[in-house]
Amino acid sequence: METRLRALQEEALDALEHTSDSASLEAFRITYLGRKGGQLTALLHQLGGVAAVDRPRLGQLANEIKANLERRFEERKQQLGAPVGKAEQQQTDLSLPGRYLPFGSLHPITQVMEAVCSIFESMGFAVAEGPDVELDHYNFEALNIPKHHPARDMHDTFYVTDSLLLRTHTSPMQARIMEKQEPPLRYIAPGKVYRCDSDMTHTPMFHQVEGLLVDRDVSFADLKGVLSSFCARMFGADLALRFRPSFFPFTEPSVEVDIACVMCGGQGCRVCKRTGWLEILGAGMIHPNVLSGVGYDPDIFSGFAFGMGVERIAMLKYGIDDIRLYYENDLRFLSQF
Ligand code: DAH
Repeated sequence: METRLRALQEEALDALEHTSDSASLEAFRITYLGRKGGQLTALLHQLGGVAAVDRPRLGQLANEIKANLERRFEERKQQLGAPVGKAEQQQTDLSLPGRYLPFGSLHPITQVMEAVCSIFESMGFAVAEGPDVELDHYNFEALNIPKHHPARDMHDTFYVTDSLLLRTHTSPMQARIMEKQEPPLRYIAPGKVYRCDSDMTHTPMFHQVEGLLVDRDVSFADLKGVLSSFCARMFGADLALRFRPSFFPFTEPSVEVDIACVMCGGQGCRVCKRTGWLEILGAGMIHPNVLSGVGYDPDIFSGFAFGMGVERIAMLKYGIDDIRLYYENDLRFLSQF
């Protein structure tokens, strides 16, 4: 019995030496020290069968061996535990930068609005903001659009009361700015506007930037110069521009400005409806009725005004074909900007 005990101890210690990880260590524990079927446990059970005189001595030996194996097992466990920890430490590169919290970014509309404003600010235009809930007077009347004028139909207006409405464009700022000060003046007015309309290219709320410049001897050439340099800076210097005759009640003459289609470069495609051109803004020389309405003498002062849709400019700049994407708050869309 003693020989078997010592042999088992030898064998177990040797096996322990050969364990290399927590799995082999566990296999060792089950084979030698396991309560059920462990080899040492099996030998201890056999102690009952040895001669009574030998029993205390062999019992003591067996207990010593068991305690010894258990202690060595714990030591080995520590030993194997340490290198694993070290390896993990080596995989952690402490010089790597920490993980950043995800940052939000400005909404594409805000970004384009800021870009438009900063181009005009660099040309000496000041920024003014006005109310979203506007008087019928500023939205229409002061802009040479009297009651029952057919041009009102183009606007799909949300009325609050008979005389109060959600502004349908930023143009009311023209009259608000002019009636408060004397020329010369140069302003842009960015903001939200509202129209009862909703489809792939219209949302009930959208953004415009209005511009106006009033002074003595302002001519259509000044308008062309300012808008051409704006387009060159916004879309690229070599992009072709087209000034096309149009009509707005508050400007005379009026134009719409087109840029060569940013998708096809003017060849004609689905986006430009095969015309090669994309409309980006409306503009014109401020109508004498608007000037005299705010108390300016149209024989002394002249000026130009323009208005552009920010969503539309952003769609053209980024090649977005559905305006509703701006307002669905889908981070997969928004985080691209
Ligand atoms: N307010 C017009 C619109 O919303 C755009 C516009 C056209 C503004 C001509 C202007 C302008 O200042 O001169 O459709």
